[in-house]
Amino acid sequence: MKNIMDQNFCGETVLVRVDFNVPLNEDCEITDDSRIQSSLPTINKLINDGAKVILISHLGRPKKKEKKFSLIHLVSNLKKNLRTNVFFSEDCIGPSVLSKIKNLQNSEVLLLENLRFYKEEQSGSRSFSKQLANLANYYVNDAFGTAHRSHSSTFLVPQFFENKKFLGLLLQKEVDSLKVVLSSPKKPFTAIIGGAKISSKIDVLFSLLNKVDSLIIGGGMVYTFIKSMGGNIGNSLV
Ligand code: 3PG
Repeated sequence: MKNIMDQNFCGETVLVRVDFNVPLNEDCEITDDSRIQSSLPTINKLINDGAKVILISHLGRPKKKEKKFSLIHLVSNLKKNLRTNVFFSEDCIGPSVLSKIKNLQNSEVLLLENLRFYKEEQSGSRSFSKQLANLANYYVNDAFGTAHRSHSSTFLVPQFFENKKFLGLLLQKEVDSLKVVLSSPKKPFTAIIGGAKISSKIDVLFSLLNKVDSLIIGGGMVYTFIKSMGGNIGNSLV
């Protein structure tokens, strides 16, 4: 995929897959907006070009449509961070979204509802993906944290865009740094890996083992290691 800096998106409608899977507290307030901050350079580049920006993301792992998993909770944060109008669509496909896009002006942003309210997002559906793809004429993937998932929005949707799909600045930066780190790391090489879900990181940990001098594990997944070494983790995540 191409780099967004090589293209001017003025007047174009651009579908941007971001990873806005941010933590929310019981009042549905964002407790850490790092993931939103990380994608601001990509979104701002598109806004500054004069594109109509459609943001799509998942949030959590909802079993059904539930308010606590709604991306509406992110709108005020986006309004603060982006100096433009930010609108919200309660659906991610269908006529209501199309009419919101029709009313969108250049440099404005439309955030769509949680993709995972459709089971087709995770199961991977060509018809769902086509409907998403039909919303825009360009596709940008900036969802680094979700790039390993072969879901509709990350894997199938870009297939509908031929030469009109791009890497976002965050994804490009992460891929570039990973290339350097994995091919010619400066020694001594210490990797620090955090996060809650060990299932999606265990392969990375294994592949790092023969490259690093030291490996530091942090975040929620640390308890799995402590428990497997015979430690007591109380009620902590495992
Ligand atoms: C993450 O938080 O690891 C990413 O957003 C992917 O979420 P998932 O593990 O629910 O697919």
